[in-house]
Amino acid sequence: KVKDLEFREFISAQAVEEKVKALAAKVNEDYQDKTPLILPILNGSFIFASDLVKELSIPCRVSFVKVSSYSGTQSTGQLKTLIGLEESLFNQHILIIEDIVDTGLTLKKILDELRGLGTKSVEVVALLRKTPAREKNIDVKYVGFDIDEEFVLGYGLDYDGFGRNTKQIYQLDN
Ligand code: PRP
Ligand code: MG
Ligand code: MN
Repeated sequence: KVKDLEFREFISAQAVEEKVKALAAKVNEDYQDKTPLILPILNGSFIFASDLVKELSIPCRVSFVKVSSYSGTQSTGQLKTLIGLEESLFNQHILIIEDIVDTGLTLKKILDELRGLGTKSVEVVALLRKTPAREKNIDVKYVGFDIDEEFVLGYGLDYDGFGRNTKQIYQLDN
C-alpha cells in the first residue's frame, strides 16, 4: 500500500535483475569500441541506471539530467525543460537511460533538446515501455519489458513521489 492505493507484485526482483544484465550485455556488445556519455533521466531512472552501469564493462561517463511530467497516475503532458546538462555533447555517443517510456513526451522533449548539439549518436535504453510509446514507434533501441496500460511502481517509479525504493516492480491491485 502506497498512500491511498494498493499494489501487487508485477515483476520480481530476480526478473528485473536478469533483464538489467541482459540489457547491459547488449550495450557492452554494441559499444565495445565506443566511450558513451550516459544520461540517466531523474528521478525515475536512478535505481535502474545505477544497476545497469555496474554491469557495463566499457569505458563510459555517467551524468544525470532531469525533466519531469507526471502528477498522480496520469501524464500531465506539461513538461519542464531539461536541466543538469553540464558536459559537452559534441562528438559524443549519447545513451539515455529511462525507467519507463509511456506517452513518449518526456523522451521527445529530451531528444528535441539534444538536436543540434553535434552528437555522434543518440540511443535510448528503457526498462519499461508502455503501449502508447510502442504504437507511436518511439525510437527506443533497448527495451526491457513491453507492458500494457497498468500503472507501475517501484524500482525508481513513483506514485506522487512515493514507492520508488524497491527491488521489484508493482502494479495497481484493482
Ligand atoms: C516518468 C518516467 C519517465 C516519464 C515517462 O517520469 O520516469 O521519465 O514519466 O512518461 P512519458 O513517456 O509519458 O513522458 P516523471 O515525469 O514522473 O518524473 P520522475 O522520473 O521524477 O518520477
Ligand atoms: Mg522520470
Ligand atoms: Mn514519476
